[in-house]
Amino acid sequence: MMEIGILGGTGPAGKALAARLASVGLDLVIGSRNRYRAMEACDGLIERWGDRQLSIRPADNVGAAAAEVVVIATPWDAAAETARSVARHLRGKVVVCMSNAIALVAGEFQPLVPPRGSVSASVQAELRDAYVAAAFHHVPATELGNLDHDLASDILICSDHQRATVTVSEIVREIPGARPLDAGGLSNATAIEAFTAVLLQLNSRYETRVAVCFTGIDES
Ligand SMILES: NC(=O)c1ccc[n+]([C@@H]2O[C@H](COP(=O)([O-])OP(=O)(O)OC[C@H]3O[C@@H](n4cnc5c(N)ncnc54)[C@H](OP(=O)(O)O)[C@@H]3O)[C@@H](O)[C@H]2O)c1
Repeated sequence: MMEIGILGGTGPAGKALAARLASVGLDLVIGSRNRYRAMEACDGLIERWGDRQLSIRPADNVGAAAAEVVVIATPWDAAAETARSVARHLRGKVVVCMSNAIALVAGEFQPLVPPRGSVSASVQAELRDAYVAAAFHHVPATELGNLDHDLASDILICSDHQRATVTVSEIVREIPGARPLDAGGLSNATAIEAFTAVLLQLNSRYETRVAVCFTGIDES
């Protein structure tokens, strides 16, 4: 079974993704700068979903980077540095970045423009020998991590590498209610990361959590 490591996997996004992917039978490694925080995160998930026998284990970020596919789930301004810190373990691998550069200013979510236009592009710049994809930016951790409900969301994926888009699409297809959509090259991550600020603003304004579901795409 494919093993997926999550760098910064102890936050809400990383834990939610770990639970969801483990629930469909994948092997997950929650990484952290501190192995004990990873242990706590794993214990919490296993306690919450004890009946589901999730395959989730703790590691430091280096341990998580040893997995076959690696996800970066740190705050946006730590993503490139975290990628750099484990770069030699990521050569030749598919690396998924889900970080959004967003600031909360006076109660309003605003997109920031990180170096190279997106967090994902700045991660790809650090990982010349890896295949970086941007994905999962717009899925709220609460929905992603609630295994009692299917997801009901499209997942926009962009990458400059076909291999990365195909691999992430295959992973997403395993998740009930999730539809992978190939949203083009990594330059489009700029728009997706920034658009997530709009979604967060909608959530705040309408006291809900919106999902991205596009009409008009023939699934046959
Ligand atoms: N929360 C959501 O609903 C959601 C949904 C989709 C995408 N995202 C994106 O996913 C990313 C993570 O979101 P989150 O809410 O889980 O964030 P978070 O809780 O602030 O951070 C996640 C983890 O990153 C690690 N971290 C924090 N600062 C770091 C640093 N300076 N260097 C290295 N690692 C650091 C921490 O793990 P350790 O201390 O254990 O190392 C932390 O638990 C964000 O960029 C966000 O935009 C979030």
